[in-house]
This record gives sequence, structure tokens and C-alpha cells, in this order.
Amino acid sequence: MSSYCHLVRTVVSLCVLSHVVTVSGQTCRTVTTFNAGLTPRIDDYPSRLKRQPAALLKEDADVICVQEYWFENDLAHMLKTVSSKYAYHFSPLHTSISYLPTLSRKYFFPETACNIPDVVYLYRKVLPCARRRGCAFLLLQSLTKGLYCAVSTCGYFFKTFSEDCFSCISLTATYLFSLIDACKPVNYAYNNRLNGPGLVLLSKQEILSAKYRDFFPGRELTLQRGFIEAEIKDLGTVVCSHFSATFPYYFEYDLDFANYAQQQQAEMAAIQSRFLSRDHILLADFNTGPQVETASSEDRVLKGKAPQNFQMWIAGGYNFTYLEDDGRCTFCRDNPVVDSNIHPNNVIDYVMFKGDYTAQKAERTLDESPPLSDHYGVRQTLCKNYRPLIWAWIGWSL
Ligand SMILES: *[C@@H]1O[C@H](CO)[C@@H](O)[C@H](O)[C@H]1NC(C)=O
Repeated sequence: MSSYCHLVRTVVSLCVLSHVVTVSGQTCRTVTTFNAGLTPRIDDYPSRLKRQPAALLKEDADVICVQEYWFENDLAHMLKTVSSKYAYHFSPLHTSISYLPTLSRKYFFPETACNIPDVVYLYRKVLPCARRRGCAFLLLQSLTKGLYCAVSTCGYFFKTFSEDCFSCISLTATYLFSLIDACKPVNYAYNNRLNGPGLVLLSKQEILSAKYRDFFPGRELTLQRGFIEAEIKDLGTVVCSHFSATFPYYFEYDLDFANYAQQQQAEMAAIQSRFLSRDHILLADFNTGPQVETASSEDRVLKGKAPQNFQMWIAGGYNFTYLEDDGRCTFCRDNPVVDSNIHPNNVIDYVMFKGDYTAQKAERTLDESPPLSDHYGVRQTLCKNYRPLIWAWIGWSL
């Protein structure tokens, strides 16, 4: 072989080699899921709201899926602080990536969950109906039972009532007599829309595209549920969601499920079929978790929550390593803002992934004291593998 040929071969192999080096291997990114529990119904709301932005900055993950930021003002307050680090963000209230409009133009058109006509309708029609059917008394005993009574006996009034207004009331009401306080315009504080699904996605890496989708498009929900679907640079598809909580009473008025466990199954099926053939990372409050009877410590003994639904994630091919890596409850009886009488220890917050990722150790996070929320977060570093590309390039070079 001539020396010229040798030279060409060397150059070509060096080129091929350099391509192999750049495209092989992994990019590793840290992701976190955290349910912020920002409703006045959960203790210590003003102080938790104030402390959360600093905690999210300190968390220092590449991508964070946050649930339960229900109010535009709370969201804007948090973004103002954290956007220095998480330059990219998205929520159902954003009009585009990293842009949440909070403008004084709204002075003339109140944009709160409930506007004045909603308040009038509530007191003239909805509440009198609920009172006639004996639901007001139940509301004093148990919120979920009272809501169930109201929507099942006064369904017509709810279907003609504002979805955001009713969502807001059911999320925030603490006393029967202050039902609507957090949801209506207060003086000039008109710019406080409801972020119905409560979701926010924060990212240090560029968010290439993002969209919010309802689980049940065209239906009105007491508790609005859906997911943010985003393409993030170096990570691929990331889905941020909050699946239905399995309350003992079912208080949806525009869906046909028998209970919330059934509704949660439909939500899971929606995600699983939509992303069936795509690698993706799913960050969420899953509101389901397995039972663990014996463990190395008390906070790893888990009561289980809709465990039959949790099996559907495993059967669907989703991987997660938190239970082996850490396993401590994320919703914990001894968290001071959790009502320990009704809530046993559970792990319901997960980083799940499906496809060609290698996961490093998952751990509990955002679990400082005093607590930031009724939930703790889960954090994990995931490495996206690029194997298929290597073979493509080597194949081409041969
Ligand atoms: C889940 O991910 C871990 C960590 O990357 C890996 O060791 C394990 O093999 C995966 N399990 C499955 C079933 O793919």
C-alpha cells in the first residue's frame, strides 16, 4: 500500500475515532421531584412559601419538577428568586418557555380563580343547594365527604360554575365561613390566577419545547390533573406530573369514574400510551406506592398507597431505584405539617425512567427542618446513554 493511502487511512480512522469519542458515553444530569404543598390548608403556609425559593436554589439540580404551586403570585415570587439559576421554566400559566405574564394590564379584568360573579353565584346558588341537601354539616366533619355530598346532589350547579373557582375552593378552604378568601380578588390584588394543575418545571439546561396537557381534555375537574411534556437539552423527554390522590370519597362532577384509584389508573394509562416508544423521564407525585412491612428503620416501613396501581408502573416497564437506594418515606407521619392521625408513612414521590438511562443513587432531598412541605423531595442523577449513535457512525465508516 502506498504511503499516500496510509495517510488517507490514518486521517479517516482518526476522524472516525474522534466521532466515536464525542458521541459515545453519556451525559449525566440531576433531576428532582418535589411537592411543595403550597395551600393555606397545610400548616405554616406563609413561612414555607418564604423559605422555598432559597431551598430550591440550594437543591441545585439540573431539572426540578415542582407540584402544588397553585397561585400565580406564589409562582412569580418563587421564579423571581430561582430564575438566576434555573433560567428555563414552564407552567400551565406560562405563555411561552420562561415567560409568565404578570402584568398590571389585568387591573381592569380581575384574573383570580373566582371573580365577582362567581362569588355571587356561589352564595346564591351553589351553597344554598348544598345546604338544602345537608352537605354543609358534612363539610364541617370531613372536607372530602362534604365535597362528595355537594357534587353528587348539586351536580348541575357545579357544571355551570367556574372550574377554577371551584378548584380553588376545594384546594384552599379551611373554614366553611371563609370558603373563598384565597380565591377572590383582594383589594387590588387581581393578578393571582389559579395554576389549576399546580405544576412548574425548572431547568438549568435549555428547554427546547414544553407543553401542558390535561389528562381529560374538555372535561371540568374539581382537582385539575395533567402533565407538562418537555424536551430538555442533553436529557431528552421529561414529563412532570401529579397523579390523582386516592381520597376516600370521589368528588369529580364531570368524569365517570367510580373512585380516585380508578381515575389514577386512567391517568397512568394516558402517560404510558403516549410515551410508549420514547425514552423519557417521569418526575411526579405519583400518589401511589408499595407496602413495605419490614425495613432497617421505622421511616422505611411503608403502609402502601393504592399499591395495585403502583404495580402498573412496574408492569409498564418503568425503572426507579429510590426504594433500594434510600427508601425513607417522602410523605411521613412525623413531619410536623402532616396530620399524623390520618397519614401513615409512604413513598409516593418518584423519579422514574424508561429507556436507555443509567441511574446513580437516588436520595431523599428538601427534607430540612422546619419542613418546607408535607412532602419531601427525591433527587437522582440520570445518565443518558448514546450507544445507538456509536454503531451508526462505525457502520458508516466501514
Ligand atoms: C434500573 O436502573 C438501574 C440503574 O441504572 C439498573 O442497574 C437496573 O438494571 C435497571 N433495571 C431494569 C429492570 O432495567
